[in-house]
Amino acid sequence: MALRGDYSRAAADFSVDQDWNAYGGDEHALFRRLFERQSKLVPRYACAEWIAAIAGLDAGAGVPKFDEVSKKLRAKTGWEIVAVPGLIPDEAFFTHLAGRRFPVTVWLRKPEEFDYIVEPDVFHDFFGHVPLLFDPVYADHLHEYGKGGLKAMRLDAVKMLARLYWYTIEFGLIQTELGTRAYGAGLISSGGELAYCVTDPNPRRLDFDLEKALRMDYQIDRYQTTYFVIDSFDQLLRETAPDFTPIYARLRSLPSLAP
Ligand code: PHE
Ligand code: CO
Repeated sequence: MALRGDYSRAAADFSVDQDWNAYGGDEHALFRRLFERQSKLVPRYACAEWIAAIAGLDAGAGVPKFDEVSKKLRAKTGWEIVAVPGLIPDEAFFTHLAGRRFPVTVWLRKPEEFDYIVEPDVFHDFFGHVPLLFDPVYADHLHEYGKGGLKAMRLDAVKMLARLYWYTIEFGLIQTELGTRAYGAGLISSGGELAYCVTDPNPRRLDFDLEKALRMDYQIDRYQTTYFVIDSFDQLLRETAPDFTPIYARLRSLPSLAP
């Protein structure tokens, strides 16, 4: 698949300069429109940790300056944002996470992609992923995930670990006092699926099950039919802490599960 970012200026670790001055007024306006639509939904459907963090970011005016947000992030959890041209290879991605650097795509979708986009853009990456990096437990979990990714590469188990990412970091639900809420970035940045994942009667909402998530295939072009629900980020950190080496070895010989 041809990726749409400009990779020609990327460094060896795939980082680029954000070049904030190059965004046009139309792009800031589109970011703002995306932000405003989602802002109406998140109070009802996003988890409290995400809601608490977005307020401190004043990101509603347009495409944010990554450097300014990184300063706040470093102070809170030691993470920072690294600008990238788009999707990057596994090794570069895991290496950034293992160094507490979250890769955020620099380009913004076109107006005709307001509702739907196949590749992550700056709105998805920033709005969906960055606020939760302010939560200390979530932040530690994602750091561990990055280290686990480098290990999974050595064990030829990236496919299994990527499923876990999909069902947690991208499309995870969390049980809260106010009911089920979204914490997955793919949900929080979605105009349609954010309400759907919480309220629609059709999808399955399973209690988080590590081995099931590692085995379950996923579909990237439709709303999910299965969500995994965690009780807390502590649970996620705790249940992913064991050495996955024997788990990968055991699951490798089992069939994958249909979503
Ligand atoms: N504990 C996992 C391993 O040993 C790594 C990991 C941590 C995976 C956090 C996912 C999330 O491979
Ligand atoms: Co994402």
